[in-house]
Amino acid sequence: MRAIRGATTVSCDCAEEIRSAVGELLCKIKEENSLSYSDIVCILLSNTSDIVSFYPAKAAREAGFSSCALYSSAEPEIAGALPLCIRVMVLAEGEGAAKHVYLRGAANLRKDLKKFAIALDGPSGSGKSTVAKRLAEEFDILYLDTGAMYRACALKALSTGCAFEEKALEPLIGALDLRILYRDGRQHTVLDGKDVSEEIRRPEVSMAASKISAFACVRKKMVEMQRKIAAEQSCVLDGRDIGTAVLPDAEFKFFITADSATRAKRRGRELEEKGYAVDYERLREEIEERDRNDSTRKISPLRRADDAELVDTSAMTIDEVVAYIKKKIQEKV
Ligand code: DC
Repeated sequence: MRAIRGATTVSCDCAEEIRSAVGELLCKIKEENSLSYSDIVCILLSNTSDIVSFYPAKAAREAGFSSCALYSSAEPEIAGALPLCIRVMVLAEGEGAAKHVYLRGAANLRKDLKKFAIALDGPSGSGKSTVAKRLAEEFDILYLDTGAMYRACALKALSTGCAFEEKALEPLIGALDLRILYRDGRQHTVLDGKDVSEEIRRPEVSMAASKISAFACVRKKMVEMQRKIAAEQSCVLDGRDIGTAVLPDAEFKFFITADSATRAKRRGRELEEKGYAVDYERLREEIEERDRNDSTRKISPLRRADDAELVDTSAMTIDEVVAYIKKKIQEKV
């Protein structure tokens, strides 16, 4: 048995508004929790005392919820309470976590349930993945590194000797066994059952990822996977096309950049820490080549979304970037 909560508001105390708000709320609860009418045992409804023109339980019956027990009652008058509000408790058969639904003015009652997405786009080495990880920690939300997914596609193509051509890639990507798992708060990229999180960071995989990400079949599959993950929870995604193509409706969008010499320095330090010998001039050239590939490809090129805020991190520390973006988000929430 599951107990599912919900609430909504009406703009005025009239029968039509109450019918429409209750119908909308119950249908959403039914849909979000994958319920059939027969799963629902009973629905308890309450309304604030400023609603007197129509029984919410009657609205529920009229909306099709007629095979379960329905009951509505008026709430006491509480000072400062959200006005014109209808609350529900749905008791339903079935297992799993209940997905509570708060609509219209009532969405603000449970800010913790409100899903939101932060889109961070920008060229490689701009610091966006470090910033994304930190933001995910600060807001206690999921971080999805979308670049890791393109890297996994590249690794698969490299290790199977697949040609970088649409026709050859289609069956490879169609059968791709790629899973994104989270353990100890870290993303793990699992390809064919093997954790390749480290292997995909190799420099030759970086260049191959940039090339493979230009193919339509690759982007289609990765974007589908990314949207599915993002639809489940509040999250921060970093990549090249998050604000323009993957989540164009993301609540918060930032385009993080830095000049190529600074980016080469940052990437070089990361690679040195992992034990790679680094030629900084070559690294800068490679970064510029990847920039060219990523921003000139036909499908979803690297580009700032019109509504994304540009953040140039060349002269900023990571702490400064995180503090700046966090403040911007908090101002809007
Ligand atoms: O962020 P990264 O360096 O790990 O990304 C590797 C490559 O994947 C990058 O050169 C471009 C591509 N990519 C993309 O096209 N779209 C994304 N959302 C993320 C990465």
